[in-house]
Amino acid sequence: MLARQCNSDAQTFRPTVLVHGGAGAIRDENVANARLGVKRAASKGYEALQQTGSVLDAVEEAVRLMEENPMFNAGYGSVLTWEGDVEMDASIMHGAHLEAGCVSLARDIMHPISLARLIMAKTPHLYMAGEGAMRLAAAQGFNILPKGALVTEKALKHLEMFKTNSNRTQGGQLYGPPGTVGAVAIDACGNVAAATSTGGLMGKLPGRIGDSSVLGAGTYADNESGAISATGHGETIMRFNVASRILTLVQHGNQTMQQATEHVLQQMTKRFNETAGAIAIDHRGQLGIYFTSRRMSWAYQQANELHSGIDAGEDVVEIVGEAPNV
Ligand code: GLY
Repeated sequence: MLARQCNSDAQTFRPTVLVHGGAGAIRDENVANARLGVKRAASKGYEALQQTGSVLDAVEEAVRLMEENPMFNAGYGSVLTWEGDVEMDASIMHGAHLEAGCVSLARDIMHPISLARLIMAKTPHLYMAGEGAMRLAAAQGFNILPKGALVTEKALKHLEMFKTNSNRTQGGQLYGPPGTVGAVAIDACGNVAAATSTGGLMGKLPGRIGDSSVLGAGTYADNESGAISATGHGETIMRFNVASRILTLVQHGNQTMQQATEHVLQQMTKRFNETAGAIAIDHRGQLGIYFTSRRMSWAYQQANELHSGIDAGEDVVEIVGEAPNV
């Protein structure tokens, strides 16, 4: 399917940017900042969509803002490997041509999501990792930070607590920010995109790769079915192929995006006793927002409405000013 060109005749969808700041046990004292972080990200992504008309710009800009926010487990704020380093995964995908870029084991850069997009745009490859990916980043002018610059005091403290606690259940999310970040977007013509970025699981072995950079697991976008970004226990999300399953139910199972998202995540949690969350927009512009974890921060902007939530069933709506369709 070709990218749909937006013109006045074709504007049948409500442009929307929906983001999440991660599923998990967000502590009460972090709820306000997590909500603020996702609301700002949704607005930033929506602004990008209005300015450039690109769903890729929308999801990248939304994720970049959350990568800079130590509230979330991505970019600055990433959780640490067992050895105390930051190793990040990210991916981005456009639903028109199924073009995508994925990166794993990214280090010392603030914006792995932009490196994923660069891999998509400027290399013949889809997925790069480790040293080669970092050499590409340096050659393409990324700001390579001093070693350790992404390691926050909070992340160090959480790793220490994690190492000394014998109960490391729930995918290592017992301590630290449960906060893989992601975004999905749709434009007025029905083009969709998805992006996900993460520091992974706290205390992971160096070299471990999670679901966020894996298409069909943590991220997917197809104009014929929709766009998804997942968050939660990566090993389980990959085994259950969460994004693909949700989109298959929408495309072939006659389910709404909300029904499909709920069904797949409930099945996953029932089968593996691990939790996850997902945000999704289907090819008709309908949304899916669901999590089996205790909480998940999310927000979306649609015209002048900014919606957000953290607890199950919550949907707070604010009016943020008139926004023309794009
Ligand atoms: N969902 C993030 C990870 O497991 O890496």
